[in-house]
Amino acid sequence: MADHEVRSTVGSEPSGLAQLRWDEPPEGPVLVLLDQTRLPAEEVELVCTDVPGLVRAIQTLAVRGAPLLGIAGAYGVALAGVRGFDVQEAAALLAGARPTAVNLGYGVRLALGAYQAALDKGAGPQEAGAAALAAAKALHRADAEASARMAAHGLALLDELLPGGSHRVLTHCNTGRLVSGGEGTAFAVALAAHRAGRLRRLWVDETRPLLQGARLTAYEAARSGMAYSLLTDNAAGSLFAAGEVDAVLIGADRIAADGSVANKVGSYPLAVLAKYHHVPFIVVAPVTTVDLETPDGSAIEVEQRPGQEVTELTGPQVSAAGWGSGGGLPVAPLGTQAYNPAFDVTPPELVTAIVTEEGVLSPVTGGGLRELCARSRQV
Ligand code: MRU
Repeated sequence: MADHEVRSTVGSEPSGLAQLRWDEPPEGPVLVLLDQTRLPAEEVELVCTDVPGLVRAIQTLAVRGAPLLGIAGAYGVALAGVRGFDVQEAAALLAGARPTAVNLGYGVRLALGAYQAALDKGAGPQEAGAAALAAAKALHRADAEASARMAAHGLALLDELLPGGSHRVLTHCNTGRLVSGGEGTAFAVALAAHRAGRLRRLWVDETRPLLQGARLTAYEAARSGMAYSLLTDNAAGSLFAAGEVDAVLIGADRIAADGSVANKVGSYPLAVLAKYHHVPFIVVAPVTTVDLETPDGSAIEVEQRPGQEVTELTGPQVSAAGWGSGGGLPVAPLGTQAYNPAFDVTPPELVTAIVTEEGVLSPVTGGGLRELCARSRQV
């Protein structure tokens, strides 16, 4: 997939590598991604010169997280346009790369719409590709702005719900800079609390099986200087029982019209725990993650991932240690079947609030969600 890789040693300081950027070297335009499968061991850039390469990067989770998938999808359409590939085919490939995060299809449609509109006005393919690129860049900027606004709304909500001003927040998966044009969704709220001096601790679920919490959120938390602790997903229950969690902050991959929230598998059990322990369960997501076309949670397609992700440990640390035979390190008998949904769905009655860039929705109702969306449908 990659023409080349750029490595940098991981230290305690930010490397300056962007999670995703458009570049135009003399050989032609490319989309450069920070390969999230290699974190935190090493910071390696993937250079995508074509759409199949980008699709592989999406499917292997080198680039991931709902808002960033939307941005990557839009740039992918632009890449096809400016490089003279079949743009319709590219758009279909990209939109179908992963099924659950609605942002991916949104970003693809946005750039494709700009491409088509330019063609309709008599532009040539190159000019239409430039229009798609402008749309992708606008989405990238809009996501950064949305991120900042979600952080402000989310912090105000935390302060209102938890007047003590010393918040212990539990989060799941990875929702920071690595998934966004800005500082992210749920993680951006925790970061805002940290900067305001009101985050006592961020509890980071490791997030089995691909460890987005351990590998990525801990990586971002360490760089921010906040107090954080990593826990196995299974330890969340006893943490709630000990009264150590004041709020749960998570992101979303798709929010259905009734307010059901699809997010990384393991989110739903946290919502149940939060309800039992009377702890606010807060979802932070841009309006682009709301999908009014999907009526309810049962209509959300949940991606099923290869069982190997559960039956083996994979990743750069495992390969570097020389475990496994080209694949991962087996942790179950050969031939074991696995159940490996990438996401689960939390019903609206378990969600205390949805924080968007347009404001906070609480209680979560279909009507409220429609009003919120009507206020703005992004770029
Ligand atoms: O499978 P992933 O790593 O793409 O899943 C990501 C998540 O579930 C995130 O929590 C979600 O996309 C929200 S990110 C703002």
